[in-house]
Amino acid sequence: MRTVITYGTFDILHIGHINLLRRAKALGGRLVVGLSSDEFNLGKHKSSLLNYENRKAVLESIRYVDEVFPEMNWDQKIDDVRRFGADVFVMGHDWEGKFDFLSEYCEVVYLPRTADISTTEIKNSLKA
Ligand code: CTP
Repeated sequence: MRTVITYGTFDILHIGHINLLRRAKALGGRLVVGLSSDEFNLGKHKSSLLNYENRKAVLESIRYVDEVFPEMNWDQKIDDVRRFGADVFVMGHDWEGKFDFLSEYCEVVYLPRTADISTTEIKNSLKA
């Protein structure tokens, strides 16, 4: 069974996230998700509306997700790929090219983003 690994904030879950997770799961039999910690988000100047525990509980209840673990920094991906024995690394194509260095360790796949929806857009429309 192939293991697929992906990362994200998954704040205010929407269909773009679900499409990504469904397609990622379909590339293998097991999907593990690195969920950005609240501290990591702050460091990226991208605070999430919902805290880690809350985002994790939602993500874990999705049928395509087998395991959720914290993403604490930019540099842990090689270790994670090894630790989980990941065969495929997946991200949305907004990250195209950014993680090609992982191709030494596993297959790297960028999936098309779902058009016209993002957490940032939802947050902005709530503010308006
Ligand atoms: N994603 C996607 N389609 C969208 C939005 C997100 O495929 N419309 C993917 C991203 O490419 C990433 C994963 O979902 O691989 C998690 O993305 P995340 O950063 O949590 O989501 P966004 O909704 O893009 O959040 P933001 O607007 O804060 O960047």
